[in-house]
Amino acid sequence: MAGTGKIFLTGHRGQLGSDLLTILSEKYEVAGFDLPELDICNEQAVLDAMRIVRPDVAIHTAAYTDVDGCESNRETAMTVNAVGTHNLALACAEMGTRLIYYSTDYVFDGTKAEAYLETDQPNPKTTYGLSKLAGERAIEVLVENHLIMRIAWVYGRTGRNFVKTMIHLGRQQLDRIGRGDNVTPLKVVDDQFGNPTWTVDIAQQTMALLDSDLRGVVHATSEGETSWYGFASGIFHLMDMPVSLMPCTTEDFPRPAPRPKRSSLENSRLKAAGKNLMRDHRDALEQFIKTEGLEL
Ligand SMILES: NC(=O)c1ccc[n+]([C@@H]2O[C@H](COP(=O)([O-])OP(=O)(O)OC[C@H]3O[C@@H](n4cnc5c(N)ncnc54)[C@H](OP(=O)(O)O)[C@@H]3O)[C@@H](O)[C@H]2O)c1
Repeated sequence: MAGTGKIFLTGHRGQLGSDLLTILSEKYEVAGFDLPELDICNEQAVLDAMRIVRPDVAIHTAAYTDVDGCESNRETAMTVNAVGTHNLALACAEMGTRLIYYSTDYVFDGTKAEAYLETDQPNPKTTYGLSKLAGERAIEVLVENHLIMRIAWVYGRTGRNFVKTMIHLGRQQLDRIGRGDNVTPLKVVDDQFGNPTWTVDIAQQTMALLDSDLRGVVHATSEGETSWYGFASGIFHLMDMPVSLMPCTTEDFPRPAPRPKRSSLENSRLKAAGKNLMRDHRDALEQFIKTEGLEL
């Protein structure tokens, strides 16, 4: 990274932000911001904070990430994810700062048979996907030196995610079995496919890209796809938890925000640039469970 190595990080208490803070701080000076000290919806506050830090790079993870919540709180979704990102882009444009933003597989409709490429046309079907795409567009218009990293099915040590939810539900089931209660199998959707991705791998990939001048949109998910059921099976296998699991369909689990059927992403631009560090999703999960399993 050119300059003094200062990074302005939004959402540093979130799932991804907290691992970015830890990993990037090994090499760079990172100024982390989150609610309540900085609301990205406040244009002047964002500009003031950026003027104080004077970063070489701004890394923007802060977002309203509750996909179903976004459907019932559309205004908040657009204000945080679109306007908030626009505010950060404005500040970066004024100060000539490189901006790295995390977007999502939900910008796609999930109807493609193969994994999506960066050149595929977005067609979001949810308010969350629409608001994150609006963030992409604001950055593309305002900030010449930008990198949009589309990630998906994210899990990590902090916050709520699928891995932690499964372990929690699995433990509940095993406790009930231990008490001699009758249990029903845990139903998990087996007809939606994607790439589970560990926050630490995204943070390492981001770190590697800080020294490159790659611009535009890149897909940055773990290699290989699975269903939620396949992902859950892998979690219980690695945790050595004999949980009774049953595959089910999307129709068995109606949600306020429709889920894409197949939203796998191909890291084609990272590969073409020789910069793809993302490993197989099963290896990443194994490492995550080994490192964090006892704490979950
Ligand atoms: N999680 C996924 O599966 C996934 C998939 C694809 C892309 N992404 C994207 O990756 C990024 C990181 O996701 P994540 O899972 O780490 O999210 P997260 O855990 O929900 O963290 C987001 C952080 O942003 C903060 N925030 C929310 N509204 C804010 C505001 N108005 N001003 C400042 N900060 C605000 C949140 O604070 P509070 O907790 O106090 O609200 C939280 O600390 C996001 O941009 C997300 O859209 C995530």
